[in-house]
Amino acid sequence: MSSTEHLADGESRLNIHTLIEADARTGFAADVRRGLRSQPKRLFPKYFYDTLGSVLFDAICLLPEYYLTRAEDEIFATSADEIVAAAVAATTAAVATGGSEQDAPLTLLELGSGSAAKTRQLIEALLRRQDELLYVPIDISAPALETSARVLLQSYPALRIEGYASDYDTALAHLCHSAGGKVEGSGGGRTLALFLGSNVGNFELDEAEKFLRALRGCLGAGDALLLGVDLKKSRIVLEAAYDDALGVTAAFNLNLLARINREFGADFDLRQFHHVAFYNELAGRVEIYLESLREQVVRLPALDLEVSFAAGERVHTEHSHKYDLAELDALAARTGFTRTRTWTDQAGLFSSNLFSTAAPSGF
Ligand code: AVI
Repeated sequence: MSSTEHLADGESRLNIHTLIEADARTGFAADVRRGLRSQPKRLFPKYFYDTLGSVLFDAICLLPEYYLTRAEDEIFATSADEIVAAAVAATTAAVATGGSEQDAPLTLLELGSGSAAKTRQLIEALLRRQDELLYVPIDISAPALETSARVLLQSYPALRIEGYASDYDTALAHLCHSAGGKVEGSGGGRTLALFLGSNVGNFELDEAEKFLRALRGCLGAGDALLLGVDLKKSRIVLEAAYDDALGVTAAFNLNLLARINREFGADFDLRQFHHVAFYNELAGRVEIYLESLREQVVRLPALDLEVSFAAGERVHTEHSHKYDLAELDALAARTGFTRTRTWTDQAGLFSSNLFSTAAPSGF
């Protein structure tokens, strides 16, 4: 981490901390070099989200085939008050009775906040229970973070935002380190952490476990996590969601090559690569690749690199894991949480899971 930049508005309701490494380009360059020289080739999904990639992801969320966002919206539209009440009950039960922490307002911490569109329902439900709310969004895209923060502040005068333009690891390390396990600025009150939209699904299974353990280590007794998880379902529904008729997901995937062209002066011909998405039922995940349509050589002058592709060769760009509730219970147990409640949409496609901090953080 090289810089912490504060960007405060007149009333100091907004602070944006930029923890993105000044040499982020160096990290991206190293990952691209390593990924394109490895066998099989791979690129990390965190690099999807430059400015255009974030806009394309927002467009994916509007697609008829991409049910995830609508299903989670439906859950929040019908159950936001119940979810917040359950989170408060979970947090209150875990705190020793009579402590002042019990009465302190809940702080909302969100990892991967993006446009924060669906968070609004939870913010409103919380503001029906408490006079003020501290919202702590963390997002890798600084422009998306700042735009969404400013829009939220216009809607909710009782909201204060401490945003972090950062990857999750850096932000969690910073928040834990700077406030001794309590979210900075929360005044020592309880925290409801949000990890929505099936973001956890983009981690490999061991990475998901590592991430949830790190998050658990940052949360104290009495804090809780609302985890959005996409459920296992039919191949037809899943493959349509990740290979839509309009081609937006293909554009989102191909934008990774366009980004490498923009940032490293590479000469990927986007028309010579093809978006591939299929459900690997055995592994319980949608696998996403960019497939070379012919034998070709791509030059990346800024990286002093030339990469050869065989016809049909694939570059792996993303996994999107799907879970069932038994797997979620096991994941919770391995990471120091207990799944105390689950809400699903009417069609049973998607789940919002309240994980309470039952076990001590040093378990
Ligand atoms: C951000 N994440 C939860 C999306 C998903 O469904 O795995 C990313 C995505 N990739 C293609 N479409 C959407």
